[in-house]
Amino acid sequence: MWSLTDFDVLDLPSESYDAIVVGSGAAGLLCGITLEKIGLKVCLLTKERADESSTKLAQGGIAVALPKEDSPDLHFNDTLRAGAGLVKTKMARILTEEGVKRVIDLIQMGAEFETDERGLLKFTKEAAHSVARIVYNKDRTGEEVEKALLKNYHGKLIENAKAKELLIKDNRCYGVIAEVNGELRAFYAPVTAIATGGAAGLYLKNTNPPTSTGDGISMALRYGAVLQDLEFVQFHPTAFCDGDDCFLISEAVRGEGAIIIDKHGRRFMGDYHHLWELAPRDVVTRAIETQKKITGGEVYLDFRPIEKKGIDVYRRFPTITKKLLEKGIDPKKDPVPITPVAHYYIGGIKVDSFGRTNLAGLFAVGEASCTGVHGANRLASNSLLECLVFANRTAYGMYRDWRYLRLSHGEVRIRAKSIPPSNNTSFSLDYVKEVMWEKVGIVRSAKRLTSAIERLTEVVRSNSPWEVRSAAILGLAIATSAMRREESRGGHYREDFPYEREEMRKHSEFSIKDLERLI
Ligand code: FAD
Ligand code: SIN
Repeated sequence: MWSLTDFDVLDLPSESYDAIVVGSGAAGLLCGITLEKIGLKVCLLTKERADESSTKLAQGGIAVALPKEDSPDLHFNDTLRAGAGLVKTKMARILTEEGVKRVIDLIQMGAEFETDERGLLKFTKEAAHSVARIVYNKDRTGEEVEKALLKNYHGKLIENAKAKELLIKDNRCYGVIAEVNGELRAFYAPVTAIATGGAAGLYLKNTNPPTSTGDGISMALRYGAVLQDLEFVQFHPTAFCDGDDCFLISEAVRGEGAIIIDKHGRRFMGDYHHLWELAPRDVVTRAIETQKKITGGEVYLDFRPIEKKGIDVYRRFPTITKKLLEKGIDPKKDPVPITPVAHYYIGGIKVDSFGRTNLAGLFAVGEASCTGVHGANRLASNSLLECLVFANRTAYGMYRDWRYLRLSHGEVRIRAKSIPPSNNTSFSLDYVKEVMWEKVGIVRSAKRLTSAIERLTEVVRSNSPWEVRSAAILGLAIATSAMRREESRGGHYREDFPYEREEMRKHSEFSIKDLERLI
């Protein structure tokens, strides 16, 4: 166990609950709602304002086998194909089958999705889906989901509560230590769920909110939870960036007919994949990067074919088009320059199908977890579905374990070894993000990864603030896992090992022992 904070837990103000959930995105909220319904006394902690999350920013929608020409089987097959040989089939079956019920629950909780004149759900299409199966609300699906879930959560919710350390003794979790408005406090419970979201925010260019720095994943690693598939980061091919300030242009824009062109106005995706613009994300991402190199110019997303189909892009994509207009680009007239950026974290805390980690009483759910459902490359719009399906199951897993863990629960004195700074340097979070972007980005190599590992180790050993060292620890684990995977698969591309290797078609793991060897 490694702490980044000096504390004696018995000196801290403390409170006790049946269950603690850390994070208020789709995963944390639905887990909290379900636990409350079961009858547990829940405390939900969240780093900033309750609605500050990736969930709120989700644009495209939620993939679900609800259209009549679709089935959970078909959705399962698409998920499997996108995952490049690493999807855990049991988890994908759960996702695609239980997903139908969870989306209906969400609608019953008040989330509104687009419907036709008869009041039937409308579906849009995204990359690598064989049918249009994405329910959506314009380009602000996430806002709708977050709003509906927040309205349905009635338990205790503490904002500005940043979880910093876990309370772990003898491989069992007793709760968390969080900084609430600047003060450290201990929160005890027999069962705790980490729902702190992903880590794409560790990259200089990304689509995520500033809260997505992988805090929960890094913290779980420091306290002995096993992490899985850390090398798999999903880069989204179509972001608009003004310097390092980027926002997403949904894949649904291509699903509705937008095309990708190079500086000569040539539609080139057919050179790379038979599905053209709707090829899997990793393929489109690398194709854009390659085409930029070949032509020495920008690559653009052309919305005009959507208008030609009679769809008003301002109405269909109000958030995206408003942002572009603010930047002086009218997508009705002008092709939009696009850049691939970090978007989604596939790796995370290894869990079973009820959200259990290897530590008793500690659970993980949502983007912070790794269920194995996405394999090496996530199928578009499968992540909100994963949050819903596994939040429900995690709540039941927590309830089951709470029934016996509560019998021996109490406030405990925890001793965690702190990682003492071995140099007096202080780095910024931007430094970590630059290293991740430059050296652990879309195209990787042993040379760049070695340099990342050296630099990030220095940050971990430094006297930098908690968030910087926490980010560097996870960055170091990602870079090391990327170094170990000597092949290219899904979202992980190594220019020195450009092909898949059958002997490497397995999940990777990273634990505190690996970390100890590095620092
Ligand atoms: P989040 O929604 O990120 O919530 C994490 C929560 O944890 C936040 O409340 C955060 O403040 C809190 N937190 C973080 N650290 C701490 C800490 N130390 N202490 C306390 N609290 C903490 N997926 C789809 O399926 N369809 C889409 O259309 C789609 N579009 C997307 C568009 C964008 C721009 C982005 C960024 C993502 C998109 N995704 C989409 C992915 C999807 O939104 C996320 O995977 C999903 O919302 C993750 O939910 P979550 O609850 O796990 O995490
Ligand atoms: C998008 O709208 O392109 C994002 C969908 C996703 O990340 O699943």
